Amino acid sequence: MTDIIDQPMATPRPRLTVVGTGYLGATHAVSMASLGYEVLGVDVDQAKIDRLTRGEVPFHEPGLPEMLDEALASGNLRFTTSFDEAAEFGDVHFVCVGTPQLHGSHAANLAYVEAAFTAIAQRVRKSTLIVGKSTVPVGTAERLADMVAAAAPDPDLVEVAWNPEFLREGYAVQDTLHPDRLVFGVSSERAETSLRAAFEPVLEAGTPLVVADMKTAELVKVAANSFLATKISYINAMAEICEVTGADVNLLASALSYDDRIGARFLKPGLGFGGGCLPKDIRAFMHRAEELGVGHAVEFLHEVDEINARRRRRTVDLVRELAGGDLRGMRIACLGAAFKPNSDDIRDAPALDVADMLRAQAADVVVYDPEAMGNAREAYPQLDYAPTFAECVKGADVVVLLTEWARFREADPEMMGELVRHRAMVDGRHALDADAYRSAGWEYRALGRPAQPQTVRLVEDVKDQVAAMA
Ligand code: UDX
Repeated sequence: MTDIIDQPMATPRPRLTVVGTGYLGATHAVSMASLGYEVLGVDVDQAKIDRLTRGEVPFHEPGLPEMLDEALASGNLRFTTSFDEAAEFGDVHFVCVGTPQLHGSHAANLAYVEAAFTAIAQRVRKSTLIVGKSTVPVGTAERLADMVAAAAPDPDLVEVAWNPEFLREGYAVQDTLHPDRLVFGVSSERAETSLRAAFEPVLEAGTPLVVADMKTAELVKVAANSFLATKISYINAMAEICEVTGADVNLLASALSYDDRIGARFLKPGLGFGGGCLPKDIRAFMHRAEELGVGHAVEFLHEVDEINARRRRRTVDLVRELAGGDLRGMRIACLGAAFKPNSDDIRDAPALDVADMLRAQAADVVVYDPEAMGNAREAYPQLDYAPTFAECVKGADVVVLLTEWARFREADPEMMGELVRHRAMVDGRHALDADAYRSAGWEYRALGRPAQPQTVRLVEDVKDQVAAMA
């Protein structure tokens, strides 16, 4: 990180605002301030602005609280709710507000993006670039450019560009300061120059840059997330085949991953994807493609979504199987609530969906998560929560691992075994050492893996045979 941060700036630094201080915006604002830019974070939520100003990050992201403290202390970063102040301050405005899925539709709700662009445009009195970072349906940037031109007192002073964000929760700072690539969607050289100045240290560090039109830039984000979702559902579809054939999806994934063309990343089978991006983005993409009359082109994403939903139902089936075929009154310890480890985000979390399905089948469900308990309680008040990991597994008939936090992965099966009523484990994330659990007397099951580890034994048998032949 210091390699980028220590570099002097060659061109005059634009002053940056970041509109929307949620996950994406807060990380962007703090990261840009750490690179030496003067940054003003803007939000309509006074409480959020107050917390950030006090140095409190309103969500769990490793490393960010320390960086926020440093940025505030350096004087490079401030926060406000005033759009007047923002328009006067900023040369480049990054719009980072949410585009959640609309209720009752697969479409993205663009109200917050439109409001942010308009609020800045109406107040522009100097040469300004408004850059969208939010994930939007292709064609939105052009429409926003028209809205901005209509709202601005002098349309020649203001321009729109698109700069999609690829940050992963849990690695947000790293992904912002050291992205795999930068994508600038621009319609003029002036916009490209401003964006280059706004990312100078990141570009100087050798980050690949793709300069594109705004439509391509918008598409890159949904295309990337659709690809990742497809890759996850692909291996989970293979898990379904493994389940009926007795093959082992873990071994299959590992054999596939040695093919460089396929690679190991996002090929981890299990409970599937959730979170604020992948599920919503593939649905909004399908919706937009249908609007454009090319719904058939991404029809496969319906299947990707459906495979993903089936994994959750199938996990419930597996827990029921281990509980003896009937969940009524069975104590089920659910390990994890967040949609993935190192995050307290529970949006579209497979873990909570499974916990709630188990509860709906009259199981006595208790949930524990190291970071996401507050958010989980708020969204799923009907579930019971344990104050500690140990309390959660105490007396359990079945334990089900739903989010692969390190402390669950590293737990000692023998010690955990002392606490439960029955040593029965469903590993929803293929994250545990099956042999260690089985040796400690657990019945261990994972989607797409045989109930008994025949495949591994066969591999070892073959090894023995080969050794005997030598
Ligand atoms: C994602 C994209 O990775 C990021 O580039 C984009 O900008 C925002 O959306 P994020 O939502 O933080 O990031 O989560 P990610 O790490 O991609 O994981 C998404 C989900 O897929 C999680 O629920 C995870 O558990 C699941 N997953 C991931 C798998 O089930 N298997 C895998 O192999 C990888």
